[in-house]
Amino acid sequence: MSDLTFNKFAGAGLATALALAGLIQLSSGVFEPKAPKTPGYAVQAVLEGGGGAAEQADNPPDWGTVLPTADVAAGEATFAKCKSCHTIDAGGPNGTGPNLNGVVGRKPGSHAGFAYSSGMTDFGAKQPVWDYDHIYEFIKGPQKYINGTKMTFVGLKAPQDRINVIAYLRSQGGTLPIPKPDPSRAPGAAAPAAGGAAPAAGAAAAGAPAAAPAPAKAGAPTATGSTATPAAGAGGPAGQGPGAPAQQNAPMGAAPPAKK
Ligand code: HEC
Repeated sequence: MSDLTFNKFAGAGLATALALAGLIQLSSGVFEPKAPKTPGYAVQAVLEGGGGAAEQADNPPDWGTVLPTADVAAGEATFAKCKSCHTIDAGGPNGTGPNLNGVVGRKPGSHAGFAYSSGMTDFGAKQPVWDYDHIYEFIKGPQKYINGTKMTFVGLKAPQDRINVIAYLRSQGGTLPIPKPDPSRAPGAAAPAAGGAAPAAGAAAAGAPAAAPAPAKAGAPTATGSTATPAAGAGGPAGQGPGAPAQQNAPMGAAPPAKK
């Protein structure tokens, strides 16, 4: 091996080592590990706040307030999801599910000619009538609410959808009267703001103030002070339907900034 050849190899080796050293130096600059000031995930608390608010907003509403203003036509449209299994006209046939004419005020599991599950019959033994509260809970997630029910329907998640459908069911042979408004039953009754807002708003908008306090409360636990929370709160009063999803989204949207 000549000196020249040796120099070539040595030079190449040195150059490689130099390049490697440079790369290591560079990458440690680029990927510098940064320890967060507060270790752990802020997400946990935010999700808890959101979950709590969703549950809170899902207490059965004050029927005396929401039924007179419910959108029966929208309820009929939503009932399209039920039609694959239920008829609702008086004397209509049973299908996969029983005929639902007059189901509001009817004893659960009692429609003639329908073979109910034992889960539904047991429920009827405890619960004498299908009132608004129980239908509201049932159609949210039938199989979660009544163990062993044959109603294999995923459920209506949006509270306003359920309120409208129940108003429609009631209009189809229902036998329960609309109860008197009961302010203590309003979902926001615990929040002082709701009491103040409701009387001022009047009957037409009475449903909206009830929904409004929930976003305000939902924002509080996150405590990020993010602008998303007031925005969600402002969206609330516009309508109960849109208000509810917005309040759920707000805490999620607030999460990434909280982490940084
Ligand atoms: C996949 C079919 C299916 C769909 C869709 C469905 N149901 Fe049902 N439903 C049933 C069956 C089956 C039963 C009987 C349950 C049992 O015996 O456990 C039932 C029972 C009921 C009952 C109790 C009736 C009684 O006589 O006690 C109500 C109320 C009801 N359904 C409402 C609804 C509403 C409202 C919708 C739409 C939002 C809906 N269902 C969608 C199948 C369905």
